[in-house]
Amino acid sequence: MTTMFKVGYFVGSLSSTSINRKLAAALVRLRHSGFEMAEISFRDLPLYSPDYDADYPPVARAFKQAIADVDAILFVTPEYNRAIPGALKNAIDWASRPWGQNSFTRKPSAVIGASIGAIGTAVAQQNLRSVLSFCNSPQMNAPEAYIHFTPGLISDDGEVANDSTREFLSEYMSEFHRFVARVYTALPRDE
Ligand code: FNR
Repeated sequence: MTTMFKVGYFVGSLSSTSINRKLAAALVRLRHSGFEMAEISFRDLPLYSPDYDADYPPVARAFKQAIADVDAILFVTPEYNRAIPGALKNAIDWASRPWGQNSFTRKPSAVIGASIGAIGTAVAQQNLRSVLSFCNSPQMNAPEAYIHFTPGLISDDGEVANDSTREFLSEYMSEFHRFVARVYTALPRDE
């Protein structure tokens, strides 16, 4: 029987026409039988400051709780100026604090992204991987997924026009499921 895991996904873009939101919709639409998927939104978080550490505002508490409630995190992000968008970094900073309450510790993650550029967010993903390493999140190493987004590739509701891309995304999710299962085999959640 397939083990069921809850996955919270972050869409790194705040754009109303985000191609990464379309990519996230495509991943959800694949309906992997071992995943229950829900977005973790960070759009309403203020800019993080350590001044908040003594008493996080309700929006940040809810955000951290949403991460606590899932087994794994999937980052679907654009590349901005060869790095991750500031809004996503801000969200990660909120999640990583207060000191000693880092939401990402031992929480498995995977990274994927779409770009209109040919290298498909490769540099942003390296940037994100370095942040996640520091945050002690076990990361899926492979397959890497750099989606070069061409017009019409994925519809707003996640329909993928191209068979090979759909198959690749499906295999990506299957491999992510195997990865999450391995992490929890090696490191049970409550230890
Ligand atoms: C970009 N874009 C971009 N693309 C890329 O491949 N590498 C990059 O470094 C950048 N830098 C960048 C900076 C800023 C501020 C913007 C607004 C855009 C283009 C980017 O791939 C394109 O806008 C995508 O549509 C962004 O993804 P979303 O927001 O549509 O999901």
